[in-house]
Parts: sequence; C-alpha cells; structure tokens
Amino acid sequence: MAELAIKGGKPVRSESFPSWPVWDSREEKALLGVLKSSKWWYGEKVAEFEKKFASFQNAKYGVTCMNGSVGLEVSLLSLGIGAGDEVIVPPYTFIATVSSVLKVNAIPGFADIDLETGNISTEEVEMRITDRTKAIIPVHFAGLPCDMDSLDNIAKKHSLRIVEDACHSWGSQWKGKGTGAIGDCGVFSFQMSKNITSGEGGIILTDNKGLAELARSYVNCGRKKNKPWYEHHVLGGNYRMTEFQAAILLAQLTRLGAQVEKREGNGIYLDEKLKDIPGIRIVKRDGRITRRSYHMYVFRYIKEEFGNLPRGKFIEALNAEGIPSTIGYPYPLYKNPLMLDMGYSKVSCPNAEKMCQKAVWLSHAMLLAERKDMDNIVEAIKKVSENVRELL
Ligand SMILES: Cc1ncc(COP(=O)(O)O)c(C=O)c1O
Repeated sequence: MAELAIKGGKPVRSESFPSWPVWDSREEKALLGVLKSSKWWYGEKVAEFEKKFASFQNAKYGVTCMNGSVGLEVSLLSLGIGAGDEVIVPPYTFIATVSSVLKVNAIPGFADIDLETGNISTEEVEMRITDRTKAIIPVHFAGLPCDMDSLDNIAKKHSLRIVEDACHSWGSQWKGKGTGAIGDCGVFSFQMSKNITSGEGGIILTDNKGLAELARSYVNCGRKKNKPWYEHHVLGGNYRMTEFQAAILLAQLTRLGAQVEKREGNGIYLDEKLKDIPGIRIVKRDGRITRRSYHMYVFRYIKEEFGNLPRGKFIEALNAEGIPSTIGYPYPLYKNPLMLDMGYSKVSCPNAEKMCQKAVWLSHAMLLAERKDMDNIVEAIKKVSENVRELL
C-alpha cells in the first residue's frame, strides 16, 4: 500500500499553516485614525515610523519611499553612483538588486554566491573589482546577514560604497547591529510578501545625515529642507509613502520583534532536526550573526541522495503531505531575457546555478506556527526520503 500522500497515502497534515499578512484591530484602528484625521499625506505617521524602524535596526536616520526597488535606486543616486560606474551584485536575488544599478546607468557585475549560505561570496567580490567599481550591493538573502566584516574591509581597501539590500532582513543583526545600518546605507521592502508589510513600501536607513538628506530630496521631487516648495535641486521624483502605509507599518512593527524571535526559534529547531537527513543541506550560519530574521526557510535538496528523484517531484510529494514549498528563483538573474539582451550571456556563477537547481523554500509565515507544526515538516521530509522508491 502506498505510504506517500501523492500516491494515495494519508498526508502528514491537513491543516493549513498560518496565513500572511497578519493583522488585527491595531491595523484597523490605525487606518481609521488616519482616515478620520483627513491627514493622508506624508506627515506625522511617516515621520514616526521612520524614527521607530530606524531605531529597531539601530540606524540613525530613516527615509521612507514607495518600495524597495526605488529605495535601492535612490541609495545609489545619493551615493553619486552613475553612468559608467560598476556595482558588484549577487546573481541569486530579486531583479531589483540589479535593475536599480541599470536604472542609474551604472553597470552590474555579478559575483557568485557562497553555496552554503546563499549570500554573496566575499572572495568573489574581491575578484570582480576593477578600477571602475564604485559599490557593492550585498543581499542578506532570506534574512541571513552577509559577512559584513569582510565586506567592510574590502570596501575600505578599494574605496567602495556598500548599499545593503536588506529587503529580506527586517530584524536581522550582525554582531549586535541591525542589517541595513552597517553599510553606507541599507534598503528594506514592505511589499505584501514581506515580514512587515503595508502592501507596498520601502525605507532607506543610514547613519550619515547628509546622505539621508539627499535621499529625502530624491524621494521628494528634488526638494530641499528649509527651501521654497517649488524649488528643485536634484532629479528626483515623487516616491513618497502615504500616512495610511505608515500607520499600518507602525501597527505591524508592534509585532515584528516577537515574530522575528518565533521564526528564528523555529528555524533553528528545523536546522537541528533536518541536518542529519541524507540529501538535505541546511544553511550555514556564521557565529557572528546575533539575530536572524527568516524571510524564507531554505535548504538544498541533493537529488543523488534521493535516488535521483528530481527536485520538482520531491516538492510535489512534500506539497501533497501538506507542506507547501517552492523552488524559489528558477535561474540566476543574468539568465533573464533582460540581461541576455544586455550582453550578459557569457556570465557564469556556478554556485548560484547550483542553488537555483537545488534550493527548496518554505515561507516565513510557516515559521510562525508551533513546534508540532515544525515536526510535521520534518516528518514529511523524512517520509519522502524513506519512501522515495514509490516515486522512482
Ligand atoms: C532581495 C530584494 N531586493 C529588492 C526587492 C524590491 O523590493 P520592492 O518589491 O519593494 O520593490 C525585493 C522584493 O521582492 C527583494 O526581494
């Protein structure tokens, strides 16, 4: 008789995992408060959120904007990165990490990732530096902080700027300091799938007052503080956040700390339980990471240790057991039609390619469930492993 649910057996679980976004009367009250105040536009709530979120990540200044993509673009503009400059980026990330570089007419150069972490490899970064390189955009992939000590040393040695793409790492800390507050600046996204969300939204964090003022100017149509309203100083745009978004984010922020802690506890628990299952490779965590926010729980699937069962079939079997999972990024960014058209067809980052073939992603909302639900994840993976012959 079949054991595996995909073959007609009983699934490990039939209840669903927590859904996302999480909201309650706090968001409702906050939204109605803004509505009734008639002050819907870029004011008190935005300023309050900027202050509170910057402080949550240990940064001095926060400049909100429409989304993370614009945040990255504005960061590069504010650092003076432009035509002809090269910016080193990882290929295993969302398109905005790279499109922001192209939008400011700079040139992205891909540095491969470290297969064990999914983050940019610092050795690869050093190898990609040319005399035109001006900046690095490390992505704290899935919330796992990059090796910021090494990146900082490289940046100092070669006079490079660091823009942290912290769009997965609200709450993560490297040696006690929040991600996004370590490089020259850092950018977060509050889009719907993110661990703190207002549907859309973003913020740039920095400890540099001048940089924060310039970023504010880019976000606010090129205006300058204490200057006439219709006087424009830089080629910015209207990239502002609304009071409604900020009000929701303030409500979301009241839960973020506890959620980060819960996900981290469950993530570490899963690591412990999965690390010895043949064919499963967990993500390596640097001892200098003092807090990790999980945007996804990611592991690598080694099909050779599952009788050569393709990853897609493994994921289908897991899903049938009641454990939703996905493959994540299907290929490195340089394989996108956009990049191929721009002449990136000869780029090769073997680790990023392996990661795209082997990764399995579980959503951050699943990590908000209880320990017994984590046990279901482990049980389902073990069940597929032990009954893989049914699928071969
Ligand atoms: C790594 C990374 N960088 C940048 C972004 C861009 O953020 P947004 O969607 O808010 O523009 C995202 C969003 O998915 C992301 O995952």
